[in-house]
Amino acid sequence: MPDSQPNGLPTIRTIAMPADTNPAGDIFGGWLMSQMDLAAGSVAALTARGRTATIAVEGMKFHRPVKVGDEVSLYAEVGHIGRTSMRIHVEAWRRQRESEITQKVTEATFTFVALDEKGAARPVFPPEV
Ligand SMILES: CC(C)(COP(=O)(O)OP(=O)(O)OC[C@H]1O[C@@H](n2cnc3c(N)ncnc32)[C@H](O)[C@@H]1OP(=O)(O)O)[C@@H](O)C(=O)NCCC(=O)NCCS
Repeated sequence: MPDSQPNGLPTIRTIAMPADTNPAGDIFGGWLMSQMDLAAGSVAALTARGRTATIAVEGMKFHRPVKVGDEVSLYAEVGHIGRTSMRIHVEAWRRQRESEITQKVTEATFTFVALDEKGAARPVFPPEV
């Protein structure tokens, strides 16, 4: 498992808090996935210049646990752009509060769809009028 450098642009940085734990005391995977969805959604909205929605998540992998107090950084990068959809790869990295060492903790590829005002799929890049 490579821990060299994050792929993508820094999109969100936050601190894992006690309220985000599972019963075992580690950070809840659903919290991490929501942070990843937020990061991908931010990049999707910027790319499509408007409203978007998650339609699929692929390859979700949890490499390591996240502990309370860790600084969690989300990196996101746009991959393939289709007619109405965008594939966005997201990685989460942790850094213990007292350390400079960073480790990749999760990664996944999110597909977002650009939406019109009625919530229907629309082209990511609308034709010029
Ligand atoms: C997003 C939504 C409007 C799209 O509806 P739709 O018009 O029937 O979607 P389509 O089948 O035409 O697919 C739209 C795009 O998504 C892609 N897509 C569809 N299903 C996919 C899947 N399982 N994985 C990856 N891409 C997928 C299609 O290939 C298409 O991309 P393209 O235009 O770039 O070729 C609808 O699915 C929806 O509202 N979903 C709920 C979204 C939501 O609430 N998300 C938050 C969940 S917490």
